[in-house]
Amino acid sequence: MAMMASSFAASALPLKTIPGSYGPPVIGPLKDRLDYFWFQGPETFFRHRATNHKSTVFRTNIPPTFPFFRRVDPRVIAVVDCAAFRALFDLTLVEKKDVLVGDFMPSTSFTGDMRVVVYMDPSEQKHAAGKGFCLDLLKRSAGLWESEFLSSADVMLTVIERDLTASSSGSAGFLQPLQKCLFAFLCKSIARTDPAASPEVGECGFLMLDKWLSLQLLPTVSIGVLQPLEEIFLHSFAYPFALVKGDYQKLYSFMDKEAQEVIRIAGEGFGLTKEEAIHNILFVLGFNAFGGFSVFLPGLITTLGRDKTGLQDRLRAEVRGVLAGGRALGFETVREMELVRSTVQEVLRLNPPVYLQFGRARRDFVLNSHETAYQVMKGELLCGYQTLAMRDPMVFDDPEAFVADRFVGEKGRRLLDYLYWSNGPETGQPTTANKQCAAKDYVVATACMLVAEIVRRYDDFRCDDSALSITKLEKAKEGTEAQAASVEAGRPGSR
Ligand code: HEM
Repeated sequence: MAMMASSFAASALPLKTIPGSYGPPVIGPLKDRLDYFWFQGPETFFRHRATNHKSTVFRTNIPPTFPFFRRVDPRVIAVVDCAAFRALFDLTLVEKKDVLVGDFMPSTSFTGDMRVVVYMDPSEQKHAAGKGFCLDLLKRSAGLWESEFLSSADVMLTVIERDLTASSSGSAGFLQPLQKCLFAFLCKSIARTDPAASPEVGECGFLMLDKWLSLQLLPTVSIGVLQPLEEIFLHSFAYPFALVKGDYQKLYSFMDKEAQEVIRIAGEGFGLTKEEAIHNILFVLGFNAFGGFSVFLPGLITTLGRDKTGLQDRLRAEVRGVLAGGRALGFETVREMELVRSTVQEVLRLNPPVYLQFGRARRDFVLNSHETAYQVMKGELLCGYQTLAMRDPMVFDDPEAFVADRFVGEKGRRLLDYLYWSNGPETGQPTTANKQCAAKDYVVATACMLVAEIVRRYDDFRCDDSALSITKLEKAKEGTEAQAASVEAGRPGSR
């Protein structure tokens, strides 16, 4: 295993000036913006600059820039290695106030004219209340989370099976059934509400969230519209909340009426007003949970369904072995599925769903990379690009390759300290004092349950090589479970 050469404490590493420049006003940011969205795309954008500067820490502009409409400062210090990235988790060094997606912050009108917990720094008193409320909800709803996810996943897979049988093209799209499944299960487990209580929310709630999310994030992501139309019409200004106000209002009223139990917990346990509770629930449910899973799970499903290395067979043997004898799938049994877990973590490593993290220097400090240190000045904005940091050759062997059992065994588990998808090491714990994803362990366990359910249910599962659709679902034959149990002794995780 490649090892990291430095610690993160102040060290005697050679101090270098951070390379790179921001270019002339307007022109520099515009050129970088066009590279980021149009000519290069985010990955090549960061890769080229790291190569050109021969440094994993460098200065660059990052979109959005709205030259004529609103002041957003695009200047950042980019960080693309595992060691320097760690500074973004050290809240004595960086402040996390209003920097969720960079210097640009979507209008608070999207969240009831208030700043919700994800935009707060832990030094703000309301952060502890909001995050404590979220952690408490997750703890209380662990059992519900498990059962609701499995029953929604069952509905989703039944719908896909039906669509595939009826399809004349031999494939069935899975994004819509997946998002419907996510919306139903998250409403039931986080907000204790059944979306079916409102026909409109039940049928279209997930689309309402999609629109609300897209409008907030549009200036920061590329959606593949023909250029230069995307730059002119989608990336040059922030779209107003008015365009989704009606939908958001419906979701708000739905929670107001149906989520009484959790609103009461927010008030009695954490001192949040009804409005604070509902806007925070909607944000956590819609932006963090629904948005996060909608980005992460399609990649996980296609990794499984496009694999041609025999991974599915190995996962099948492990899952059916653990579940042999009629054991139920759930948080407890997925804990025993080491290869399933490592596969999920490897997908999170190669394609971190939230690939940018920001933090503003609280004071002047020395940023330690593996072999070099850099001086950062108070107020400068650090921008960590996880996709490259998670492919750091100083930490991960064969870093560009998908290695399903990378995190298996003693050696693999040590690497978890360098897996950062949750805005903190995989070995860390989310608390009210840090900014690590509140649902870190739930996300991994849920993804493990999905993988396990798929390979338990199907003897073969195939996805289209380019589209988000399923092309083959071969149901497990009677007795397969028992046979699988007999090959269990040879499964990778049991070594
Ligand atoms: C695949 C799904 C998810 C991903 C990839 C994800 C990722 C993240 C990341 C990267 C952050 C840190 C953002 C930053 O400050 O830079 C975060 C924060 C957070 N996440 Fe998640 N998340 C996911 C699902 C969830 C779920 C299901 C919940 C709750 C039910 C949740 C609740 C939160 C909360 C409350 C925070 C803010 C933490 C704080 O302010 O201290 N997330 N998440």
